[in-house]
Amino acid sequence: MNKTPNNSMPAIFIIFGGTGDLTKRKIIPALYNLFLDNRLPEKFAIIGTGRSKLTDIKYRTSLLEGINEFSRSGKAEKVQWETFSANITYQIANIKDAQEFKEFGKRIDFLKNEWEQQPSVTYYCAVSPDFFCTIAENINKSKIENNPETTRIIIEKPFGRDLQSARDLNKRLLTIFNEKQIYRIDHYLGKEVVQNVMAFRFANSIMEPLWNRNHIEHVQISVTEQIGVEARGDYFDNAGILRDMVQNHLMQLLCIIAMEPPINFEADEVRDRKVDVLKAVKKILPGTVDSMSARGQYGPGWVQGKEVLGYREEIDVDPNSNTETYAALKFYLDNWRWQGVPFYFRTGKRLFRSASVITIQFKEVPHNIFNKSEGNIPKQNRLVISIQPDMAISFQLQSKIPGLEMNLNTVDMVFDYSDKTKVQAPEAYETLLLDIISGDQTLFMRADQVEEAWEVITPVLEYWENNKTSNFPNYPADSWGPENAEALIAKDGYHWFNLPEKTKKD
Ligand code: BG6
Repeated sequence: MNKTPNNSMPAIFIIFGGTGDLTKRKIIPALYNLFLDNRLPEKFAIIGTGRSKLTDIKYRTSLLEGINEFSRSGKAEKVQWETFSANITYQIANIKDAQEFKEFGKRIDFLKNEWEQQPSVTYYCAVSPDFFCTIAENINKSKIENNPETTRIIIEKPFGRDLQSARDLNKRLLTIFNEKQIYRIDHYLGKEVVQNVMAFRFANSIMEPLWNRNHIEHVQISVTEQIGVEARGDYFDNAGILRDMVQNHLMQLLCIIAMEPPINFEADEVRDRKVDVLKAVKKILPGTVDSMSARGQYGPGWVQGKEVLGYREEIDVDPNSNTETYAALKFYLDNWRWQGVPFYFRTGKRLFRSASVITIQFKEVPHNIFNKSEGNIPKQNRLVISIQPDMAISFQLQSKIPGLEMNLNTVDMVFDYSDKTKVQAPEAYETLLLDIISGDQTLFMRADQVEEAWEVITPVLEYWENNKTSNFPNYPADSWGPENAEALIAKDGYHWFNLPEKTKKD
């Protein structure tokens, strides 16, 4: 599918939270890289907005610092940057005041006149979730551009803090924009390997016959992070890892692994199949939360020779906080394909290694013909989908060790992106922003998807909130998490697989 945008339609981006971290680290570097790849329309304008008083020049300089530090293409080259940044302006505005939105309207009209063309207008809410509705409502009140065909609004996560608030937010947004205008970002869906799972599953005829309860024993979805909460203590202490990671990123990974083949690659068809997965998740009943999940909170420790604080000592975190920084969960899907196959999730902060990996463990061979006394017990096949730090998909197979005896060994059939494709994969935000410019919603969360994902985790969320634990912190920084997470999987006879280290490149 060619995602080059329609170059005849210019694009305007209005970024609320234009001086924030997300804009500096992700949004502007992504737009800049799209520009370098000739993927932005010829005519475009980026209007950053914030509360500080800044000149355009000052604003551009701060964005350049962000690019130089965070862009995958490294430091910006002078001429390219100057050409790109000539399209960036800054507009001071109080997002709570609809009157101040009129300035955006004037700017849009000015650009329309200058370009003599209808542009797409994208309002990017790169702000705290408390302001999503205020922004939408003020766009409406101030009567600035809201064309159902060409205006879009981007909402970052968290999308609500529970099922009810997500429903309310959807309801309010949908009074102003229609569903086709709303782009709810889950940046995991923009990651290259996550997208490749679709190709891997649905462009290879050998996968489908194996992809079910007859051949798959269990699935592990791990998203582990070495970092702590950093400067986000205030947000995180009110959220916890269940809201921050499980409700969105891990649930979306589950959908991509477990979905039925869609009829085509159209946005709604793909999203319908994902919603089916969430609907099929067997609800965890309040009385069974303890046997289906494990929670943890990190204590102090040492990471790479440096002493690090425990969660409760982090800035803006309640010293008696009961917020979980680690979660492990077990889910079953009630459908034909997956009946009885456990899906294990684990995610946490301050763990031993950062890695996002999906592992599909296939069943044992039904009968071993080899000589067991020589250790020739075939290991189960495993498909390891490594999203990061290295991007790779590998199949672990059994093979004969070359030699005079029949001895078995595990070999890897690897699709390693760094070796094979020779092209640098785009950052998730580049993929997502290009899709927004092109009006493609496939990789964005539809209202019902978000709500279903909340439905799935609600029993755990409520149980954990109502039943505080007394054993936090229960894992040291730089470990693999709490013991109860080991027990969760061990009682089924399995163990958490080792997660791959980043390969050192020469
Ligand atoms: C964000 C979470 O959505 O994803 C963060 O809010 C987390 O807490 C981040 O660190 C992880 O994203 P990535 O792309 O670094 O795996």
